[in-house]
Amino acid sequence: MSARPIAYLAGIGSGIPAEVMTNHDFAAVGIETSHEWIVERTGIVERRIARGAGESTAGMAATASRIAMERAGVHAGEIDIIVLSTASPDRLLPSTAVDLQAELGASRAAAFDLSAACSGWLYGLTVAEGMIMSGVAETALVVGSEKMSSIIDWSDRATCVLFGDGAGAAILKRSTDGRGILSTYLRSDGTLADLLYRPDGGARRPFDADVLAERGQYVHMAGREVFKHAVRSMADAVDRALDGAQLAASDIDLLIPHQANLRIIDATAKHARMPMDRVYVNVDRYGNTSSASIPIALDEAIAAGRVGKDSTVLMVAFGAGFTWASMVARL
Ligand code: ACO
Repeated sequence: MSARPIAYLAGIGSGIPAEVMTNHDFAAVGIETSHEWIVERTGIVERRIARGAGESTAGMAATASRIAMERAGVHAGEIDIIVLSTASPDRLLPSTAVDLQAELGASRAAAFDLSAACSGWLYGLTVAEGMIMSGVAETALVVGSEKMSSIIDWSDRATCVLFGDGAGAAILKRSTDGRGILSTYLRSDGTLADLLYRPDGGARRPFDADVLAERGQYVHMAGREVFKHAVRSMADAVDRALDGAQLAASDIDLLIPHQANLRIIDATAKHARMPMDRVYVNVDRYGNTSSASIPIALDEAIAAGRVGKDSTVLMVAFGAGFTWASMVARL
């Protein structure tokens, strides 16, 4: 038997930008690619681009958070901590989390950003769970919000076709009835950081004319290497989360993998021996929204009736760092 859960997901929400960019739209911005190439290699058909009023990283986070709060029956004043995972903060200082805290009017909340790339939302849930366990918090807001369109190089066809914008959020509260997080597994390997990174623009090499000329402020990626590590690490993470919860794949109602690439999702599902009708896929509609991808997928899966109260979900992610993470939760 797994230990009694400490915290459960009391409400989920997402904030999706209005503008749709299809694979066919790349021609208009001078990118030499094709719908067929993108679909065959990634499964992506379209993605959302945050361009509208209020669609900043904090703005999308606020939309997702308000929905999650309403569904959880939680008011802003009840939130003790806000953990906002992002690789695309609105500003480098202060955190995007404090802008969200101000926008929500969460007057008593401690707020901070968390940087673990695509694994960040699962990292954030784990941090928040620990704070609930230690008595620091009763109610936490955990958000993944990304404006990836602002950090990708729109002249690099190997990366710009992959990403999209959006946000997802959950209210985490102390568990009282056996529902909640049953297991968590977090890992990282910084020796591989340079396979997927934004080389410059931080303290090590601040912005200057050379950085801009080299396009060092944008995401650079060794796609094939990332692919191999993602498949291997997500398989490992699936096994660890199931072991931690002392469950078998047959006990899982829905596998919700990070939505980066349909081939990575297929490989993860195959490893887990989960048929695709028990795997959630929306990468075709959103591309890779980094740390927002799992909460957006979970929100959609609930809205579609694929899972509901007492369903058991397995969530698994991999991203820059490298970081990888998994979690089994009873909703
Ligand atoms: N359109 C058309 N051709 C392209 C494009 C494009 N958008 N991008 C690259 N190509 C070309 C390349 O120039 C290359 O041409 P060449 O053979 O003439 O040199 C050819 O396609 C093959 O390029 P590769 O990079 O080797 O293609 P690959 O089969 O590895 O697919 C891809 C690339 C889709 C990026 C794949 O490596 C991948 O998905 N990797 C995982 C990356 C990922 O998901 N990162 C997200 C962050 S981590 C995470 O979230 C899991």
